[in-house]
Amino acid sequence: MNVDRRAALRNLASFFLASPLLSEQVRSGQGLPKQDPLLDPINIWEFKKLAREKLDPISWDYMDEGGKDEVSLRENRTAFDRIIIRPRWLTDIHNIDLSTELLGHKLNFPIYICPAGGKNCFYPDGELETAKGAAAAGAHMITNGGIDELVKSGQGPKTCWHYTIGGDFSRENAMLSFVERVEEAGYTGICWTVDNMLVSHRERSIKNKFVRTWCNEGGVPRNAEGEVIFKEADVDNIWRSDVYPSRPFATPTWDNLRQLRDMTDLPIIIKGVLTGEDTELCVRYGMSAVVVSNHGARQIDHTGSTIEALPECVQAAGGKIPVLIDGGFRRGTDVLKALALGATAVGIARPYLWGLTCFGSRGVARVLELMRVELALDMGMSGVAKISDINRKLVRIRNLSI
Ligand SMILES: Cc1cc2nc3c(=O)[nH]c(=O)nc-3n(C[C@H](O)[C@H](O)[C@H](O)COP(=O)(O)O)c2cc1C
Repeated sequence: MNVDRRAALRNLASFFLASPLLSEQVRSGQGLPKQDPLLDPINIWEFKKLAREKLDPISWDYMDEGGKDEVSLRENRTAFDRIIIRPRWLTDIHNIDLSTELLGHKLNFPIYICPAGGKNCFYPDGELETAKGAAAAGAHMITNGGIDELVKSGQGPKTCWHYTIGGDFSRENAMLSFVERVEEAGYTGICWTVDNMLVSHRERSIKNKFVRTWCNEGGVPRNAEGEVIFKEADVDNIWRSDVYPSRPFATPTWDNLRQLRDMTDLPIIIKGVLTGEDTELCVRYGMSAVVVSNHGARQIDHTGSTIEALPECVQAAGGKIPVLIDGGFRRGTDVLKALALGATAVGIARPYLWGLTCFGSRGVARVLELMRVELALDMGMSGVAKISDINRKLVRIRNLSI
């Protein structure tokens, strides 16, 4: 459902709520009609609670966990508390416009879907459901793949980047066949995540003896007694803490980025940047944008929060390329703070995975909608009516190195 259609449906709903029939129902003591359970969660945290109740505890841990002591996981949230909004009054905010521009495309609102592997552990056909939810909400998406047909049909998200970790790009034909497929399907960019070449140390999954291939097969297999079933082939895939890190191919370097840059005209976006130095290199190597991200704090711990890393990356980008960010965004005010610190758009992962877990594509769309509305309200309540009016003066930072 596109944004206009949703607005029309909302108008229809308010018309119905105002109708004499409904007033009669309320007057006669029957109360309001039973509402769609999709509408029960009133914010992102309530989606989290519902998803946790619904999901297998091992899949829950896989989604929720961070690396090692989860210090960065906590800090991705707590850092927001040290950023204070400085509202300004008596500006005209009767018409709040969230639209913005990213790499030549219009975004309806600056909140997008981050890549997340293992979605089938949370909902059947998780990637497709997510793409349908993003399309319904009118949101931009970065996909892990498997939705080529939807993108080709034009029914997917209007702008959609295909993700890669460039795992085997040291073999040139692997890079070429990836590029040909992505171009042919009609993706609008390539998002190269640079922070997960190695399997990280996530202790909840190690304790749970999580098998990464379970998510390809539809979730944690259990017998009638609820015990986890391990197959012989699973033994090699159990997440362990005593495996010396290595990869079968040379891991990607800036030279591979240059190769990819020369191979396609599609925008290349580098996800996982946390320093001004790497942002500068991205500019130098002709990258189209960077995403400041610590992979939802799932890779190396002790990176600090992403919002702390944002200002140095924005400064290094120097307005030459857009800077995006993800990590811990749950409220409209979180998004507003990142925009004030120079981000062009903000990605979410766990929040839409909670929506996906509970309601499939409708849950994804609902989560995006709740965050979109929160952002609009928070903008209006701090005196800004359009994205381009948000600037650094909108926030003050308490005891923080940014
Ligand atoms: C279950 C899960 C799987 C993820 N898989 C990937 C992935 O395959 N590639 C990637 O670049 N990032 C991945 N991420 C990281 C997200 O893209 C994003 O950077 C981060 O989770 C955003 O933070 P948030 O979850 O607090 O919103 C994953 C995150 C989660 C929660």
